[in-house]
Amino acid sequence: MDKIKIGKSQVETAPLGLGTNKVGGHNLFPNLSESDGRETVRAALESGIQLLDTAFMYGKGRSEELIGEVIVDFPRDQVIIADKAAHDISSGEMVLNNEPQFLKKSVDDALERLKTDYIDIFYIHFPDEKTPKSEAVGALQELRKAGKIRAIGISNFTLEQTKEANQDGYVDVVENYYSLIHRDEEEKLFPYLKDAHISFVPYFPLESGLLTGKYTKDSTFAEGDPRSKSEKFTGEAFQKTMATLDNLRPIAQRHHVDVLQIVLAWYLANPNLAAVIPGARNAGQIPGIVQSAGVKLSKDEYDLIDQSFSAV
Ligand SMILES: NC(=O)c1ccc[n+]([C@@H]2O[C@H](COP(=O)([O-])OP(=O)(O)OC[C@H]3O[C@@H](n4cnc5c(N)ncnc54)[C@H](OP(=O)(O)O)[C@@H]3O)[C@@H](O)[C@H]2O)c1
Repeated sequence: MDKIKIGKSQVETAPLGLGTNKVGGHNLFPNLSESDGRETVRAALESGIQLLDTAFMYGKGRSEELIGEVIVDFPRDQVIIADKAAHDISSGEMVLNNEPQFLKKSVDDALERLKTDYIDIFYIHFPDEKTPKSEAVGALQELRKAGKIRAIGISNFTLEQTKEANQDGYVDVVENYYSLIHRDEEEKLFPYLKDAHISFVPYFPLESGLLTGKYTKDSTFAEGDPRSKSEKFTGEAFQKTMATLDNLRPIAQRHHVDVLQIVLAWYLANPNLAAVIPGARNAGQIPGIVQSAGVKLSKDEYDLIDQSFSAV
């Protein structure tokens, strides 16, 4: 995989990464196995994935700890750690906090959990309501100068908030919700990011499994399964997505792969995106993810996928 550069920073990474909210993210997903989590990260790194996307919020530090346990076995410069903070639990409640002091302590604490001495990309996970955004980013710039982080990111910021955060030109990367069926950022955010030399990393690229091709129009979800209450996984929206994914099946056959690889190959070919960070539940899902790096879509195939989903 040819490497990409994150914004104006010196961080370079293979563009296919791994989302790790199911690695130790016990507060977000029930019944997660920590050994599966460790093995998922190990399998990813052994397969050439470098970029690991984590956050304090994934298990309140547990994802970072599990990643720390695995990466000691790999050369540090082969691993690109993207981490995030903004959730402050010091009062007993969880509140968003972007104050410089909080962000600095968050980075120090994360370094300990990750058992490393620098974090490649550090994101403000969510904007808070009170801290001036350029002050929050200014704190990250100080951390960069101190060598504790290498690139500055923001996540879940609107276009206006992004502009405010990037007042001094320090922001390297934005991570927001974007997928084939959620294209809101294309019209407004992407042109600004391009002009400002800021990279974009989408989260939920597989729409929590919806876009993997493993469901059909007849799939149903048992009561108690959160998908049974999700608009995306039920009713008309679900049927539409399943029908659109069927357009990808001939392309998948042509490339001797499945729909999952075609979907991920589309993100890898998308000029608006720097990297893609599909999440995995276990190591068994890693080969399917990695296979996508070998799929080169033709321009016609890329456009067909683009247009099919633009109408969804
Ligand atoms: N910045 C933010 O605020 C933010 C918010 C959300 C997520 N994120 C990041 O984005 C990453 C991606 O989001 P996500 O993990 O929630 O969702 P996702 O990438 O859209 O979907 C991941 C799901 O796809 C399925 N999958 C993956 N590989 C598969 C394979 N080979 N075969 C079959 N199914 C496969 C698994 O579903 P099953 O679980 O059904 O097996 C997996 O849990 C996260 O891990 C996290 O790092 C960031």
